[in-house]
Amino acid sequence: MVSENHLRPDDLVAPLFVREGIDTPQPIGSLPGQFQHTRASLRAEVAELASLGVPAVVLFGVPSNKDPEGSEAWNPDGIVQLALQDLRDDHGDNLVLIADLCVDEYTDHGHCGVLDDLGQPDNDRTLELYRKIAIAQANAGADIVAPSGMMDGQVAAIRQALDDDAHEQIAILAYAAKYATALYGPFRDAVDVTIVGGGNRKGYQQDVANAREAMEEIRSDIAEGADMVMVKPAMPYLDVIARARDEIDLPIAAYHVSGEYAMVHAAAERGWLELEPVAFEHTLAIKRAGADLILTYFARMLAEAMQ
Ligand code: PBG
Repeated sequence: MVSENHLRPDDLVAPLFVREGIDTPQPIGSLPGQFQHTRASLRAEVAELASLGVPAVVLFGVPSNKDPEGSEAWNPDGIVQLALQDLRDDHGDNLVLIADLCVDEYTDHGHCGVLDDLGQPDNDRTLELYRKIAIAQANAGADIVAPSGMMDGQVAAIRQALDDDAHEQIAILAYAAKYATALYGPFRDAVDVTIVGGGNRKGYQQDVANAREAMEEIRSDIAEGADMVMVKPAMPYLDVIARARDEIDLPIAAYHVSGEYAMVHAAAERGWLELEPVAFEHTLAIKRAGADLILTYFARMLAEAMQ
């Protein structure tokens, strides 16, 4: 009666992986209960999520072939484009389809952009690739594209590419305050990404020490045309979510990332914590901090428990 916040299935967005060239879903060791899906197993999983009242999914692709530019990311027959078409066929307008928009799953070096002569992502050449991906994803049926590469100017570039290609209605969920955290490890297993030379993303993702700068990132993405903004990871950055909520009236998403999920599972496997109550507490705390949408690998488990 006195609870200020309640969690509902429609607060949740399920991140899902679909892999090209496999016949059976592959379990992801560091993300218990999560899989690299085949097109068919993805359809089955999404049908289940939709029937549980989860309103949206975000798709990540694992291509068979990676190259320096990540060209499978904008191939009209690339794995995410095919999966988007499948899900659009299955669900019509009853499910929101979000496509993660980046090249790191598709490049052979694992960075979120094409590299310059020094081996660092070339921001502006990368924007050209992002424009092509946005159009491919929109043509395949995405409702929302979610640029996650943290290149400067990516939201403006994508907005313009979509508008020029008669996709004005496609929305942009900007990974705005995305930190160079140590919590993405299991995700990189999930998408078979190793950054070349033991590299990292500190050159383009945010310094974990910074909160004010996160607000600058959020403001600039909104000025460039973002329809929604994201804070990522979630639990260690509740202050950033709360700050964003104070200032921003657009929808705010928070991504409870792979490492956050894996920690809870690992402790639960040892009998040190109870899985479901901790998952609920994390998710409700993220909502309390001010998030409207929570991307979480716990989406299915939580939605099942809420039926
Ligand atoms: C980049 C991307 C990453 C995640 C989502 N999009 C990884 C990264 O930046 O290295 C991480 C999500 C997670 O850890 O659950 N395309």
